Amino acid sequence: MFSYSFGSESLEQQLETLGITKAYHANLDKAVAYAKDLTAKGLLPFARQMHDGADASPIADAAKRITEGFGELIVLGTGGSSLGAQAAIALARFNKGNTRIHTPDSLCPFEMDQLFKDLDAKDTHVLAVSKSGTTAETLAQLLACRAWLEENADSDDLGAHFTFVTEPGERPLRTYAEKLGSPILDHPTDVGGRFSVLTNVGMLPVAVSGLSVEAFRKGSEAVCDDFMANPETAAAVVGAALTHTLEQHTDINQVLVMPYAESLRAFTRWHGQLWAESLGKDGLGTTPIRAVGPVDQHSQLQLFLDGPNDKFCTFITIPSFGKGPRIDPEEAKAYGLDYMAGRTIGDTVTCQSRATQETLRKKGRTVREFVIDSLSEENLGGLFVSFMLETVVTAHLMGVDAFDQPAVEEGKVLTRQYLSELP
Ligand code: PA5
Repeated sequence: MFSYSFGSESLEQQLETLGITKAYHANLDKAVAYAKDLTAKGLLPFARQMHDGADASPIADAAKRITEGFGELIVLGTGGSSLGAQAAIALARFNKGNTRIHTPDSLCPFEMDQLFKDLDAKDTHVLAVSKSGTTAETLAQLLACRAWLEENADSDDLGAHFTFVTEPGERPLRTYAEKLGSPILDHPTDVGGRFSVLTNVGMLPVAVSGLSVEAFRKGSEAVCDDFMANPETAAAVVGAALTHTLEQHTDINQVLVMPYAESLRAFTRWHGQLWAESLGKDGLGTTPIRAVGPVDQHSQLQLFLDGPNDKFCTFITIPSFGKGPRIDPEEAKAYGLDYMAGRTIGDTVTCQSRATQETLRKKGRTVREFVIDSLSEENLGGLFVSFMLETVVTAHLMGVDAFDQPAVEEGKVLTRQYLSELP
């Protein structure tokens, strides 16, 4: 679980300064009513799926088969079929999973060539994920992987090199999987790609990486329970009411998410897609911005501080006093660096994030901070579901459908048309 706050000045004081107190409370009332409505219906499928745990054994079995048989796993999928998994498995960067995971989610020919050069086909498994089973990028990569494996894996059971996640029903990916005789896990029909991180889409790669699926889900359940029991104070409800009010009544039309941990860099990509694709509709929407601290203090902070006051800044921090390598006191003093003598890298990062947030607040920027006590599966699971709920509640306040992406679909159809028309 996490805690969240708006800094030393209370949220009410900040609303007063911005002159949006009344509008915020009207939106908060609407957001709370919607949260209660969702609760009465048993919450949303993406949040409910994990409660029954019926998919736990298929996920564990598939992960066992992959990790026992292969040292390399290529996860094919794009958008919501890849970003959640990437954000989740980023926690494993210091873990010791036996199978390395590759996520070539951007259809880059040079990356694919390089991957095929780097990997041993005999030791490689491919997990193809597509809810629709029709996405051109994923299908193209799948066909390329099959040709490469056919040529190099020296296997009389090619199907054993593949696992598929797709919806039931007739679709190209499913037909392909069936012909190949490979295992297929059903993509939940009532959960969209960008909301699927806690389903088998995100959790199978998690299990392969050696992280705990159960812990991710436990963390998300705690946040769901809080959302249902205390909608007035749940981070998702307050965040949605605030973002929407800022968009309606101020110039703030961008949302920054800036964690102070490298392992959460992929989380910012996941959030950016979730927010943009769910809310950018009907001429409305707020633009997501990604940054990671402290490194981006040296690239974007000047803009955040001194550029237009058009960003709602969300920080995610992990107090890390005493963590990381310690700086030798004598060495530091010898160079006049007394302020860092005996401090750890964690001390430095924690102070930097505090200083950055305070400076932003002094400049009149709206800042929210989530604090997690560690980079754990439980905490990340909680953040996933909180940000998904915040997106859905914001969509409700905006009057848009969080779950469709009509404009993107049009582009997908055109891509297929242009490809088929090539000479
Ligand atoms: O979030 C979404 O719905 C999209 O980003 C999809 O995940 C993405 O377009 C891939 O679609 P599919 O899983 O059908 O291949």
